[in-house]
Amino acid sequence: MKNILVTGGAGFIGSNFIHYMLAKHSGYSVINFDKLTYAGNLENLSAVKGVQRYRFVKGDICRKDEVLAAMRTYAVDTVVHFAAESHVDRSILGPAVFVETNVMGTNVLLDASREADIERFLHVSTDEVYGSLGATGYFTEQTPLHPNSPYSASKASSDLLVLAYQHTFGFPGVVTRCSNNYGPYQFPEKLIPLMIANALNDRPLPVYGDGLNVRDWLYVEDHCSALDTVLHRGAVGEVYNIGGHNEWKNIDIVKTVLKELGKPESLITFVKDRPGHDRRYAIDASRLQNELGWTPAHRFEEGIRKTVRWYLENRPWWERIISGEYTKYYDQQYSQR
Ligand code: NAD
Ligand code: DAU
Repeated sequence: MKNILVTGGAGFIGSNFIHYMLAKHSGYSVINFDKLTYAGNLENLSAVKGVQRYRFVKGDICRKDEVLAAMRTYAVDTVVHFAAESHVDRSILGPAVFVETNVMGTNVLLDASREADIERFLHVSTDEVYGSLGATGYFTEQTPLHPNSPYSASKASSDLLVLAYQHTFGFPGVVTRCSNNYGPYQFPEKLIPLMIANALNDRPLPVYGDGLNVRDWLYVEDHCSALDTVLHRGAVGEVYNIGGHNEWKNIDIVKTVLKELGKPESLITFVKDRPGHDRRYAIDASRLQNELGWTPAHRFEEGIRKTVRWYLENRPWWERIISGEYTKYYDQQYSQR
């Protein structure tokens, strides 16, 4: 493993992963291949801009010519695939681009990877492919796929394509499924950064439904270390769940954020529920822990404090985002709720 193509490296997890890999593996080069959609932001990588082992290529995973050119120019031997449309609410407003990017784009990337003789392909997926849990139980790698949103259906399709390529062609693909991430550089359409930004601007905090839906939160750096582990030690053709046993009701997350910021709970506003809203996610990552020896390094109390501090210290980063095109999205998403 020498030259790693990271698709979607200008997004939230992708940019954290690039920082993590450059710092951890001094012998590796990283090529960030990103279309720079609304969610892609090269500011996330300004700290490594001049670094010799880091390259940025603006490109679309749906364009095989662009993907192959990048792979050949930089003698890519490994792919870590993050590029996707990632927001459930946007997939409800407009599913087509989710099918285009997440399904068709992954298919193009797989074909290009076969042609370029890639040695290892890590497909970054999500626990949402398993659907929704009741009050008890966990998703394991054996849980049947039951995606409920256009986003999760597109991710499940892409997972199955990777596994089918492995089965049919002996393609060196491996799949991970992680729970909800939080941390620096997360686009403020997602729960935690949206609540931080609104609270800091003394705007209402829109909690969907009764606020009792449960998500299982993992600090983004722990997701990166898990991906690094699977990349090096995971078995081809296998699926690894990633998570840290950290379930929270949405309302409690929102209250925690308010407490960290010293803002009043009166900012909380219950709004109309997300259509088809999955009730509970909780992931069993014991396979990754027992077989590959991974453990998360951050406790939630520490992770959320670091995250809140990052948004306080990087106000221009998110203020630029929420004052642009985002205002139209926000109106469309929240004004009728
Ligand atoms: P994000 O929306 O922050 O970033 C997505 C990135 O992909 C952006 O930089 C965007 O420009 C790029 N992109 C989109 N379409 C592209 C295309 N056609 N060609 C090239 N680049 C393109 O997403 P994220 O939250 O960082 O998630 C990254 C991956 O991790 C996704 O595959 C997502 O399904 C998965 N995942 C996310 C979470 C989470 O909590 N955020 C949890 C588990 C898995
Ligand atoms: O579980 C992994 C998934 O987590 C990833 O695959 C997705 O890419 C990522 O976006 C995330 O999906 P969620 O839908 O769980 O994340 P989101 O931050 O959008 O919402 C988290 C919870 O908070 C969910 O129950 C909906 C609720 N919510 C969200 C927003 C944006 C609110 O109550 N109000 C809001 O304004």
